[in-house]
Amino acid sequence: MDINEIRKQFPVLDQQVYGKPLVYLDNAATTQKPLCVIERERDYYLHENCNIHRGVHYLSQMATEAYEHARQTVARFINAPEAQEIVFTRGTTESLNLLATSLLGTHSMCPCNPTVLVTAMEHHSNLVPWQQMVQRQGGKLLVAPMDDSGVLDLHAYEDLLKQGPQIVSMAHVSNTLGTVNPVKEMIRLAHQYGALAVVDGAQSMAHLPIDVQDLDCDFFVFSGHKMYAPMGIGGLYGKTEWLEKLPPYQFGGEMVDTVSFEKTTFNKLPFKFEAGTPNVGAALGLETAIHYIESFDRNEVLKHEDALVAATIKGLSKIEGMRFIGQAPVRSGLVSFIIDGIHPYDLGTIIDKMGVAVRTGHHCAEPVMTRFGIPGTVRASFAMYNTLEEVEVLVKAVNKAANMLR
Ligand code: ALA
Repeated sequence: MDINEIRKQFPVLDQQVYGKPLVYLDNAATTQKPLCVIERERDYYLHENCNIHRGVHYLSQMATEAYEHARQTVARFINAPEAQEIVFTRGTTESLNLLATSLLGTHSMCPCNPTVLVTAMEHHSNLVPWQQMVQRQGGKLLVAPMDDSGVLDLHAYEDLLKQGPQIVSMAHVSNTLGTVNPVKEMIRLAHQYGALAVVDGAQSMAHLPIDVQDLDCDFFVFSGHKMYAPMGIGGLYGKTEWLEKLPPYQFGGEMVDTVSFEKTTFNKLPFKFEAGTPNVGAALGLETAIHYIESFDRNEVLKHEDALVAATIKGLSKIEGMRFIGQAPVRSGLVSFIIDGIHPYDLGTIIDKMGVAVRTGHHCAEPVMTRFGIPGTVRASFAMYNTLEEVEVLVKAVNKAANMLR
């Protein structure tokens, strides 16, 4: 991997902030976009822009074809058996709201007293939609605990499955701890106890190869913007048998088959779940981002990102009062930490002035912070374009900031 060549594809990285070279380590929040993705979206608006599935004219047909081709590319990327099993959404949050509403809402598959099991390390987007729906429907939310290193307690998880949840929804990779959950085993257990399995792949898609058939998940959700694609596009994979059974989430144009004032019948998959004009340009950008990711040896990228994580842990661990939050043996892409007596926000603000962009706070996972009894963490998260030199800058900046704040 030639990181210098890769970085040339990301012009945004080549800039100074506060007179210092930007060190962008907030990739779990959103990755930067390579030129090919930016150009693909620009090209769409320059030459191809049109509403899709609606026009008989040339541009509309071309745009429709390109959009459906992007769907096929997503399906292939995650090894979904059929393109109709990919629903384009705005991202993970919308995908999970779709699922929570269609699985648990009125007229849904399990509207009465539903039970949903999540893990203790969920992002709010894989917690609040389920929590709100079970509360509305008189059901309950079960939470599988984790240990002090941020590893899920699989025995407790299995015990909770014995309470008969209809749905289990789990983070593939925790956005705060970096833990990679044993989702294949969790899905197998969920099925053994008769539950549907949903995987939140927001933090895994850019890093780990995904094979939904091998995982055997019923649903898999992800965001494009965390995998080098534009904002405003993401997806939901669902097995055909379940997508056929689910009621639509939003109503409007395109998701219908026939409409009268008395009655509406719905379109076939996946259009039943895609009401209104979709974000076509971003879907094409997502397809290009997938091609971009596939142009690298993914094992090599993984090794590089693991090396960045290892170097960060090694460098930071020398700092007095350092406490890592999340020390699972199987982890991916990020390091979360706090330093005794120093508020993460203060540390993040000071190292920002040194050019280092990290995220601080609860990272939209407040219950995780409560579990560890902390107000938040500082989180450095990596992408393929980050370098060991940037890790050194981070470590020096944290050291300096810690000395200033003590
Ligand atoms: N979910 C994103 C993060 O973890 C925003 O930062």
